[in-house]
Amino acid sequence: MTKSSKESASVISAKVDDSRQKIILSSASFLSFHRTLIIVGGVLSAILSLICLPSVVGHGRLLHEGFSSLRLLTMFLAGCVFCFVGLSVPFYVGQKHVLKKSLTDKDLVFLGSLIAIASLLTYTMSWLQVHLTNVPDILRLQQDLRIFVLILPVAAAAMIVVTFFDVNTALLFSIILCTFLTVILESNLWIFLYFLLSSFLGIHWLYPYHDRFKPIRAGIFVGLFQGFLVGLFLVLRQPSMGWELYPLYTLAAIMGGILSGVLASGLIPLVEYLFDYTTDTRLMELATMDHPLLRELMLQAPGTYHHSIIVGNMVEIAAKSIGANALLAKVAAYYHDIGKIKKPLYFIENQFDCENRHAKLAPSMSSLILISHVKDGVELARKYKLGQPIVDIIQQHHGTSLIAYFYQKALECRERVRQSKKGTELPPVNEEDFRYPGPKPQTKEAGLVMLADMAEAACRSIPNPTPARIQGMVNRVINQAFADGQLDECELTLKDLHKIAKHFNQILSTIHHKRIEYPSTATAKFESHPKCKETGNGRDTDQKSAAQSGKSEANKANSGTDLKRLGLQ
Ligand SMILES: [Fe+2]
Ligand SMILES: [Fe+2]
Repeated sequence: MTKSSKESASVISAKVDDSRQKIILSSASFLSFHRTLIIVGGVLSAILSLICLPSVVGHGRLLHEGFSSLRLLTMFLAGCVFCFVGLSVPFYVGQKHVLKKSLTDKDLVFLGSLIAIASLLTYTMSWLQVHLTNVPDILRLQQDLRIFVLILPVAAAAMIVVTFFDVNTALLFSIILCTFLTVILESNLWIFLYFLLSSFLGIHWLYPYHDRFKPIRAGIFVGLFQGFLVGLFLVLRQPSMGWELYPLYTLAAIMGGILSGVLASGLIPLVEYLFDYTTDTRLMELATMDHPLLRELMLQAPGTYHHSIIVGNMVEIAAKSIGANALLAKVAAYYHDIGKIKKPLYFIENQFDCENRHAKLAPSMSSLILISHVKDGVELARKYKLGQPIVDIIQQHHGTSLIAYFYQKALECRERVRQSKKGTELPPVNEEDFRYPGPKPQTKEAGLVMLADMAEAACRSIPNPTPARIQGMVNRVINQAFADGQLDECELTLKDLHKIAKHFNQILSTIHHKRIEYPSTATAKFESHPKCKETGNGRDTDQKSAAQSGKSEANKANSGTDLKRLGLQ
């Protein structure tokens, strides 16, 4: 076999291995998701079958016709299968074509539990409606419009779902839930529409959730809409009903909406705690800068703290322009480098005038220390319960990028040793040892934090930053990340990258802008002024910046002259 044919054979076998690996991984995730869907769906179907069976078959028939236990078991199993199909088909199709984000096992358990609780609550209300003997006739007026049904806080479930998921998931969930509740109540299309429209508007008025009073406000609006809907319904369906009953039914519908808001408001923090979900209100709490982790970062690693604030501002503005979650991106940027708290002096932004700690270390050791800040950050984020979205972004903010400086240093060291010990065979420098472990950014927000982090750090190294140089550097950083494949797994498009670069340039140019040089004579006059001497040094921050920003020789000479005049040199 020739050399080229051997190479092509090895390439083909590598491709086969790769595709086999992909098939195994995708089938593993397929099985995991479907296993959970089957378990959750199975349990839920059993509950729903028990609840729905009397409604489907008829209470009277079940009680009086005396079905055999085998017949009852068959009916129960048929009910289970029916409910399972009713649940799984919409979720499966939705997962494939409608939902923006794949549902995890935890999500399925949460949504299943919510359907089960809502169904049990509805069944209890329905049972009370049928079996309470001392209920006044006025409250059990018609078969298709019962006052107990109007008070049911069905919209609360949709409002809770939209808080933790996207709008598509909440709409799909509402359709499934409202269908089952209508079957349980033995109601008709009017009641289905009453539940469904209230749920849809609850979603509309609550999303996005970043104010803890919003569920109450949404509940009041839903209540008013329900009152209006019931009024229309009564006019159309109960023309013979006395006008005196209208306020009672309308009030019941309004109460149902308000109850939905109150229930959603109370249950959202509980769900957030039990299922470890992150809401916008939680993100706003984390963004207040009063969090112990950020205070610790400010004390232990002030350079990193300052860098994180700038990255936060950069991603917030860029996220708004590309339709990403600006709040999540900003908060994640604040916390992305918290792992540096453990060894702050090994990172250049915290070294100031200290000696470089890496000078005495082997490049591989330096690289290990740098890589460890990601793992340490993830551990701290988990310890302080920052939430999974923040943990993910901390883990992904360097992707699998190369620590080029220490990799080059390692190559140079190896070359030096090889030349000094001629003939000695040295192991090659493994590039993978100088790469972050990843994973690569999986979301727009994670991709944004990665790009802003790289761009901000790179612009600090520009000796005399002008807008043109900053623009060149930002474009180079983004191109490098793109060419290195770091953005392959997030949803950032080329159009997004263009917008991101534009906003990064604006912010970084504003931060690194040059100030107009103060005339040296004016400075000298100002500093020799008696009032200035009275207040001590007398230099404000602007003058400091002006003195520090000019790195040209002329500036150095001028400042040197100034210092001499002041007797400080
Ligand atoms: Fe980092
Ligand atoms: Fe960073």
